[in-house]
Amino acid sequence: MTGPAPAFSRLFAKELPPPAPRWVGFPTHNFVGGHNDPTQIPVAALAEAATAVLGRSGSALAMYNSDGPQGCRALREFVVRKVAGRADITCATDDVLITSGSGQGLDLVNRLLVEAGDTVLVEQFSYAGALSKLRRLKASIVEIPLDGDGLRTDALAHILDDLARTGIVPKYIYTMPTIQNPTGSILTAERRGELVAIARRHGVPIFEDECYADLIFDPDVPPSLYAMDSRQVIHIGSFSKTLSPALRLGYMIADWDIMSRLVACKREADSGTGALEQMIVADYFSKSFDQHVGALSRVLNGKLDAMVEALEAEFGTAVEMFRPKGGIFLWIKLPDAIDVRKLVAPAAEAGIAFNPGPEWACNPDSAKPYMRLCFALPSKDQIRDGVAALARVCFEQTGIPARSANVGRAAAGPSA
Ligand SMILES: Cc1ncc(COP(=O)(O)O)c(C=O)c1O
Repeated sequence: MTGPAPAFSRLFAKELPPPAPRWVGFPTHNFVGGHNDPTQIPVAALAEAATAVLGRSGSALAMYNSDGPQGCRALREFVVRKVAGRADITCATDDVLITSGSGQGLDLVNRLLVEAGDTVLVEQFSYAGALSKLRRLKASIVEIPLDGDGLRTDALAHILDDLARTGIVPKYIYTMPTIQNPTGSILTAERRGELVAIARRHGVPIFEDECYADLIFDPDVPPSLYAMDSRQVIHIGSFSKTLSPALRLGYMIADWDIMSRLVACKREADSGTGALEQMIVADYFSKSFDQHVGALSRVLNGKLDAMVEALEAEFGTAVEMFRPKGGIFLWIKLPDAIDVRKLVAPAAEAGIAFNPGPEWACNPDSAKPYMRLCFALPSKDQIRDGVAALARVCFEQTGIPARSANVGRAAAGPSA
């Protein structure tokens, strides 16, 4: 028998997502998602931290939210210290909410502000998860152009003026100023000032997503937007990229008038984020954050070099690369004639997974020759093998790239 029992299928709620396929394991060449480097998980130190925190305060696990609904106090204290040092943010533990991944932060901000038909401003290329959440809510997404320095504030000013003329005040401007996903840019200090001033003038909140901001290859980064105006900005961050996505820990920072509403929304959404994970991360990162993210960023930068070299060798001039200033992804562009969506299935058959650009764009068709490759999970050898395999699939499907490591590819030619 296939399909759900009739009693269920007749009763399903409207607008469910399509059924999930059964999981068959990870592909051989895995360039998708936001996985981390397995060699950089500090397994022994986390085991030590777990023993220490369970010995010290394990009995607190008897309660829901033993430090209150905003999460483990020690972790919030760590966040306060970390953002003071790295993002120039002055805040108190009451301004911090620990979330079940920063993805929950996106849901909470949407719960707070967005209803069907509302307008939200999003960077031209943006986090697929944020776009899909907004589409599900039937928000009207207006794109803000990007360039190598991040969000284009000149264009933003025009967009907001145009919207104002039609009486529309967007619910928020969603931006990733430090290591934009997927382009990897860092918004300049000058543009940060302009962005905050424009948002203030129009009375539009800024939603600052700093998911990758601690994984930077050059430590010279301007202050966060929240540091520039805490009344205009909601700030979120994640421990997924600095430590482990499987721990499902993120955080939000907002002034109390907004925070009090976010805490109420989180209470409605769940009964609190896992306490043991919070205690372990607080203990480990209170001692080792700078050293850990410093070492991790160096490893990631080395893997990025390996990926750039492999793409140069395999794709030559057929690929344009947008080298990120940190993080775990490389955004690339193939020739305009290629629609990467048509490569997804043949690549999967060859054991390769990549993120097609259209899923990372406000206007999917505008990103059809783009793809996003995550370099954190595979080893350097796996990166080289995977990029070579990807180039083979691309050639078989499109005739591009015609040469590999400066040698003409097999005369077989493209199959489609
Ligand atoms: C920009 C951005 N924000 C938020 C998230 C959500 O991550 P998590 O829920 O693991 O913290 C991601 C995940 O990749 C992301 O790229």
